Amino acid sequence: MSDPVSIVSSLAATAFVAVAGKNADPIVRPSDRADAQINGVLPLAKSLGRNPREVAEELVSKLNLEGTCSKVEIAGPGFINLTFDDGFLLRELQKALTSERLGVGAAEVSRRIVVDYSAPNVAKEMHVGHLRGTVIGDALVRMLQFVGHTVIRENHIGDWGTPFGMLIEHLLDVGETSAADELSLGDLNGFYKAARAKFDADDTFKERARLRVVSLQGGDSETLRLWRILVAESTRYFNTVYQRLGVLLTDDDLAGESKYNDLLPKVVERLRDKGILEESDGAEVVFPPGFLNRDNEPLPMIIRKGDGGYNYATTDLACVLDRIERLQVSLMLYVVGSPQAQHFQMLDAVCRMAGWMGDTDEAVHVAFGSVLGSDRKMLKSRDGDTVKLVELIDEAIDRAAAAVANKNPELSESERANVARMIGIGAIKYADLSTDRIKDYIFDWDRMLAFEGNTAPYLQYAHARICSIFRRAGVDRGALRGGDIAITHPAERALVIRLLQFDTAVGETIERYSPHRLCTYIYDLATDFTAFYENCPVLKAETDELRESRLRLADTTALVINRALGLLGIESPEVM
Ligand code: ARG
Repeated sequence: MSDPVSIVSSLAATAFVAVAGKNADPIVRPSDRADAQINGVLPLAKSLGRNPREVAEELVSKLNLEGTCSKVEIAGPGFINLTFDDGFLLRELQKALTSERLGVGAAEVSRRIVVDYSAPNVAKEMHVGHLRGTVIGDALVRMLQFVGHTVIRENHIGDWGTPFGMLIEHLLDVGETSAADELSLGDLNGFYKAARAKFDADDTFKERARLRVVSLQGGDSETLRLWRILVAESTRYFNTVYQRLGVLLTDDDLAGESKYNDLLPKVVERLRDKGILEESDGAEVVFPPGFLNRDNEPLPMIIRKGDGGYNYATTDLACVLDRIERLQVSLMLYVVGSPQAQHFQMLDAVCRMAGWMGDTDEAVHVAFGSVLGSDRKMLKSRDGDTVKLVELIDEAIDRAAAAVANKNPELSESERANVARMIGIGAIKYADLSTDRIKDYIFDWDRMLAFEGNTAPYLQYAHARICSIFRRAGVDRGALRGGDIAITHPAERALVIRLLQFDTAVGETIERYSPHRLCTYIYDLATDFTAFYENCPVLKAETDELRESRLRLADTTALVINRALGLLGIESPEVM
């Protein structure tokens, strides 16, 4: 804990107990009138039936803020305004600087967590819709790991089910080698569409596809061999996308639908043993309480269809069993678009009915909205197709390269390429992460690549600029660390307070699984740094001590920006 607001909050909580004789939330918030304000007096006074001003006075007399606050004032009907002591702020900053995570505390309880994210479908293109799930999931993985949780990444790719009958037959028609070439090059849509077109037009092909599904499910070895080609080529292609995007997913994280195939009969058996499996229109279903269809009739989760086939839901049930019982996790995050909200609500309900998930187990649907074009409709390419993720990545890097060439023509070609990659990828990721995930957002090249405003390039530039201050000064950043930092100007003070809020920003982001909170923090930090840099000469500071102190503040800012962007999966260039 390094945020002075949190520190004061816990001190205030003790005083509240002393006055109220019970726990009461002091509600301490950053404030414009002072550094922080205690807002909990009014509700407390009300619950005690006492005069708020009097309660505030009693609280202040019991508050031990010696060495923490330089000024404590009662304002209005009973607000308590606090001004932090500069020495306290600087001590906390030094503590944060020597701590492992720059002041960010470890999670109180370290949990085992599965993060289910990305999950494209085999032999189908990764489109812009997969961007969000991939980027948000990856940021959450990094943050959860950072605060000490054990995180298991699972990429629940769609690699099983009826479409594979037609895909395998099409593979045979095209010939294995050329099919493999087509798929590994990333022409997944072409392949899928061709298979689909034949399936729709040609009854013999349709019959072949049907029989092929039967062999696949029956475990026929030749069919499985062909199926593996499809999966291997597609995942190879997904990996190139992951690598270019700089996300953590690798083959080790694959946990596709096929992996749970053998568990499906067990799901049925266990639901039946529990007495919650019912028959409905020839299918085997579970009715979780509280779910109704449009006609207000109970809505079933279909476990096994009349023809004996299993469902997407059955696989997800098997997944939960595997995660809870084999992987021993207590939290499962599903980073999946909001249209699947009901599916995940029903999944949770059924798992609780079945007794597979108890009070300490949690499944959270980390839902997200869509990526829209400037027409506010789903983002489409010029020819009206869904936008391929690779094309988006290429374009981002191209545009970033042009911007960098313009901004800094002195960079060598290889430097420019590297910086352009960091900026282009950073811009796409940040545009996605900085909007509340629940909302849709409009994909706008100019805005995301702008060097001003709440964008990745602006934050990356703030970082690069600090690095350049050190280059100009000829000072090694590491060598300066550990020395004194002073507060001599309000802009320095504001920057110190902001730096200390990194802990809170990470905490709030994790609490709501909302990366945009961390984005807002980094943006505020960069803005505070700009104000500091404009008001407080660094290299031309009046004394050597002050110069070093300000260099240390700049260094700390760069460290926090770098770490915070890193938690979002975004790199921080040293030159730009
Ligand atoms: N492959 C699925 C789709 O494209 C997403 C899977 C999400 N994860 C899960 N466990 N259901 O819709």
